[in-house]
Formats: sequence, C-alpha cells, structure tokens
Amino acid sequence: MQRHALLSLLAGALSQACELPTEPISDTISDGFGIRVQNADFPAVNGRYWNLFEAGGGDQHLYLSPTGAYAFDLTLNAGVISKGIIHAVINGEYLASDNTTKIFMTERGDPRALFQPVYGCHPVTDEVQVELLFTGREGDEVGGNVCVRTGAFTDSYEFRYSPPGNTANDPSRPCIPITLAVDRTEPPAQPTPTPTSSIPPGPTVTPGLFADVTAEGYAFVGCAPEEGNANDNTTERTLPASLYASDALTNEVCVNYCKSLGFKYAGSEYSRECWCANSYLPTRQPGTTVSSLAGCNMACGGDASQYCGGAGWLSLYAACEEGAACTNAEFSALRSMRPFRA
Ligand SMILES: *[C@@H]1O[C@H](CO)[C@@H](O)[C@H](O)[C@H]1NC(C)=O
Ligand SMILES: *[C@@H]1O[C@H](CO)[C@@H](O)[C@H](O)[C@H]1NC(C)=O
Repeated sequence: MQRHALLSLLAGALSQACELPTEPISDTISDGFGIRVQNADFPAVNGRYWNLFEAGGGDQHLYLSPTGAYAFDLTLNAGVISKGIIHAVINGEYLASDNTTKIFMTERGDPRALFQPVYGCHPVTDEVQVELLFTGREGDEVGGNVCVRTGAFTDSYEFRYSPPGNTANDPSRPCIPITLAVDRTEPPAQPTPTPTSSIPPGPTVTPGLFADVTAEGYAFVGCAPEEGNANDNTTERTLPASLYASDALTNEVCVNYCKSLGFKYAGSEYSRECWCANSYLPTRQPGTTVSSLAGCNMACGGDASQYCGGAGWLSLYAACEEGAACTNAEFSALRSMRPFRA
C-alpha cells in the first residue's frame, strides 16, 4: 500500500468522519442481530463475536468467539439484550482484584445490564454502525462499562461489568473495555464446535463425583448454590468471608487456604475461585442426590480430574471434627425432588 494511502486510511479511521444520523434510535430492536466487539487498541479482542456458552440450568456464559456458539438472534427489549426467554444480567463471581462482576444470560431476575443504541462510525470502514452503549446496572449504578478479560479456556475472553469510577486493576488479567456493535453479517464458519481449551468444561479425565480431601481434614458436603441459584431473597455469597482465586486451583489447595485462615467451610467455584466461611444459610445447603451435583461441572484449573464447582455453584467441603471420623457425604441415585420452577 502506498504510504499516503495508508496515512489517509489511518486519518479516516482516527477522525471518524462518517456522518451520524440524528434521528433517535429505539431501545427495542426486534430484528435479530449479533454483536461484534471493537477496540482497535487490542487486536486480540477486536472484531470477535458475543458468543454463548452453555452454563447449565438454561443459563449461558458470555465469551468472545471462538469459545462457545455464535448468537445471531439477539434482540434488544427496552435496553435489555435478550435471546428468547434469557437476557443479559450482571451478578456474581465478583473479584475484588479488579472490582468487576460477571455478565451472563439467564431467565432469572438478576439485575439487568442496560444499553442504549447509538450511532457510531465503524473504526476501520468508517461506515455508520449501531452500537449498544452500556448505560448501567438495573436498580443501582448508572454508568460503568462492559469489558472482557481472559477466561477459563485458552485464548478465551469472558464478559465483565466494571462499575463507574473503578480504579481497581489486575495487571495479570486486565479487563479490556469494548464497544458493542450490532452486526448482521454472516459469521465466518465456527473454527471449532468446542472451545480450544486447556481446561475443558467437561474434563477430559472423567472425574469422580467429588475430590476426596479427607487427608486434609475436610469432608465433601455437596454442591451448594450461590445466590443466583438459591431460592432465597439474599444477594450475599454462600461463603463470603474470604476469597482466593487461582488458575491452578484444586480442592486440596482450596481447603488448605480456608484451613490456614481458620475457616470451617471451603468451597471451590468456576474452576478457579475458592471461598471460605464459618457458616452458611440453610437455603444454601446442598442436596443429597447424585443429580444435586449437576451444577458442579467445571474441572479445577489445576487438576482436570476433579470438579471445582460450576457457574454459581460451590463444591462444598466442611472441616471434620477433631478426633471424629472424617467421611464424605453419600449421594443417592434417586432423582432430585426439587420442584420445577413455574
Ligand atoms: C469498586 O466498585 C464500587 C461500585 O460497585 C465502588 O464504589 C468502589 O469505589 C470501587 N472500588 C475501586 C477500588 O475502584
Ligand atoms: C422475598 O421478598 C419478597 C418481597 O420483598 C417477599 O414478598 C417474599 O415473601 C420473600 N421471600 C422469602 C422466601 O423470604
């Protein structure tokens, strides 16, 4: 390319010369669309799609392509990104290290992520595009932004909410702010149907129902729900007293972390989080059937042969009484008697 041509292209991209329409845009878009994220400063994420990744119970994690599956039938309903009966919400998996919270899609009533469509200029082609401008989390904060940071799989990026004025930053895992552009082009062929993963969601080594860490003085209790999966009115975490996060997490590491702080309960979650507390609400008590373990389906980041919870589910361990037998809970093969949600 000629030098002047390159310069004028750059100038065009930088000046965003495209002429923006002035008519207002409705915050409801019922003609199905996909979303492509843009941030020209971060080629690693620029141009990748808003993908869905099955999370169990009808929920979907949000990842950048190629992790997960393309979503080209999204709609915007009064500012809420939706797909059929599920919609984008902000809740859970909060990490103090970067002060961000998970964005995912669910049928449930968690606080919605709110957007206003606006016109913008495509950063490369300079064509007019519709962007979904993030305006805040339903019910409390106005502002903030949507960002993506590295997720549980190789080259995967998960969607996060960063609140207004957030000054926290995890340099090892920065959360990259992105523009969400409405996109109706045909997506390229999905490179792989499953994520290019070092930590597959269903582990390559079939794990046992749980890890036996009785040698560390903790017994397995069951798969306990976090606030998003519990039927109570409490927004608090199940084991909120302390959090340790590591991509090399195992249940041994987790119980030893909680033990070192003197906590009675330890729970691993989402492959890489370890939560501790001395008590939990009765509404967070795990079930006793094999099917009650279904939510704890994510392999540990540090050991694919054991489960470290799931999305909004904790593999829960309790300290054994001094001098008493240390035995893991037993699980019956009967189907869970949990009532169906209306
Ligand atoms: C973290 O976010 C909250 C709002 O959710 C804000 O009040 C607080 O100041 C933030 N902390 C930092 C360190 O930015
Ligand atoms: C949850 O909160 C609602 C409204 O505040 C109340 O009507 C309902 O009884 C509460 N449910 C439980 C299980 O506490």
